[in-house]
Amino acid sequence: MVSLSHPTRRLLTVNVSTLPLRSRTYPRLALYRMASTAASAFGLKDGSLIRTQGFIDGKWVDAKEGGTVTVTNPATLEELGHIPEMGLAETREAIDAAARAFKTWSKTTAKQRHDLLLKFFALMKEHEDDLARIITLENGKPLAEAKGENAYSASYLEWFAEEAVRTYGEIIPSAISNLRNVVVKQPIGVVSLLTPWNFPSAMITRKLSAALAAGCTAVIKPPAETPFSCLALVELANRAGIPPGVINVVTTNGNIAEVGKELCQNPVIKKVSFTGSTPVAKLLTGYASSTLKRISIEAGGNAPFIVFDDADIDAAVTGAIACKFRGSGQTCVCANRIYVQSSIYAEFASRLAEKVAAFKVGNGLDKDTTHGPLIHDKAVAKVEHHVEDALSRGAQIVHGGKRLPGPGSFFAPTILSDVPTDALINSEETFGPLAALTKFETEEEVIKLANDTPFGLAGYFFSRDVGRVWRVAEALEVGMVGTNTGVISQAVIPFGGVKQSGLGREGGKYGIDEYTNIKYIAFGGL
Ligand code: SIN
Repeated sequence: MVSLSHPTRRLLTVNVSTLPLRSRTYPRLALYRMASTAASAFGLKDGSLIRTQGFIDGKWVDAKEGGTVTVTNPATLEELGHIPEMGLAETREAIDAAARAFKTWSKTTAKQRHDLLLKFFALMKEHEDDLARIITLENGKPLAEAKGENAYSASYLEWFAEEAVRTYGEIIPSAISNLRNVVVKQPIGVVSLLTPWNFPSAMITRKLSAALAAGCTAVIKPPAETPFSCLALVELANRAGIPPGVINVVTTNGNIAEVGKELCQNPVIKKVSFTGSTPVAKLLTGYASSTLKRISIEAGGNAPFIVFDDADIDAAVTGAIACKFRGSGQTCVCANRIYVQSSIYAEFASRLAEKVAAFKVGNGLDKDTTHGPLIHDKAVAKVEHHVEDALSRGAQIVHGGKRLPGPGSFFAPTILSDVPTDALINSEETFGPLAALTKFETEEEVIKLANDTPFGLAGYFFSRDVGRVWRVAEALEVGMVGTNTGVISQAVIPFGGVKQSGLGREGGKYGIDEYTNIKYIAFGGL
């Protein structure tokens, strides 16, 4: 192992045996090159937003064993840089650092936390172009969409800064004459935040800003596919003055199982917040149950999208495009099953196909690109499998239907019609740019179809009949309903699902409660 300072005085440590042979002779040079190559691969105005190390107790650190994980651009498969392959030892250090910091951070005033979160928010705005570029390069989504994600992400900081100072308690009228009942909210403690690659920035701030506002400290495990957005945010949090140990980041790919398990089992952790797939959510919930931790889960979706014959068809097409193809279909809330009433089915399909045909799929940095690549080849293979399965059961291709030439992981935006209800698409989230259309006849029939799934995150429908709007909104078994809109996500709303789509709510006035304990204090002897 060698330790050294590179020109920006960051301490870098690496296991020389993992370096290429030429680099072993010049380890200082190799380390400097690894960090500076990553910074230049992003082409930012402020290259120091690219951090290639984990963050523990206010310091940027490498993996103890010296290993690294390569991060690539899904549009080109070119290498963007490396992050440390951390493991159990670094995870425990991060948890201990967060526990030490909790002693003081939990005692700061709500106003102090509010002010720091707003400074962090202002820095995200100031660096919005660079932050969006990082999102596009590591996730693939087009630059305009990445800017939208940055604004969405920053809005959680602003929202929870404002919630921090409104974490009110309560006085409850007493049933005993010489007693007064007071309820206060206290920060829950050290929390683990495990986040996905589809929103490399917004899923960090959605959790982190609520945790910090409540007075909790955090250990974040960002996804190995898109770690640089998380690390850039932490760099900005550091610049904003958030004290050492309050935010810690452990990066890994190969050791994800042991790191994830520790983040859910370690008794110091008091709460786990996870966004990702339902099978992983179940595994983590099992670990967290060993010490009865609080847990928030935002898992798989499989959202129904229903168009009734009294709908404004153009509005429904616009809504379907926003909802189905945002992030190239890689969102938990995107429409997976599109049900269209029989009398308007053909018209809806043809207007949708006309719009989808105008999409420009490509590298998110190109200004004409409307839709980017999928995150990796496995994601492309899943969409391909869902298309093949539906076709084998009688569905028809209206548009697309194939992989697109690389080198990145591209799949053509696809519309299938006459998708039978036993197709895989109906039971599994595709997580890709595949709009699967199925015809229905009656409201009763479509509600039954929509609810025939173990998932219940979001559901959408278009209708101009006010009675139907109420009936269907109440009948859908989901945590979030979009009526006459395909866009629902905002920091101000309670985001979350029912059934196997999740536990708890993120955002809105409910979001901070996930990070607080309610304490009742009886004042006796009056
Ligand atoms: C997700 O896909 O997990 C989040 C989507 C959103 O916040 O809109």
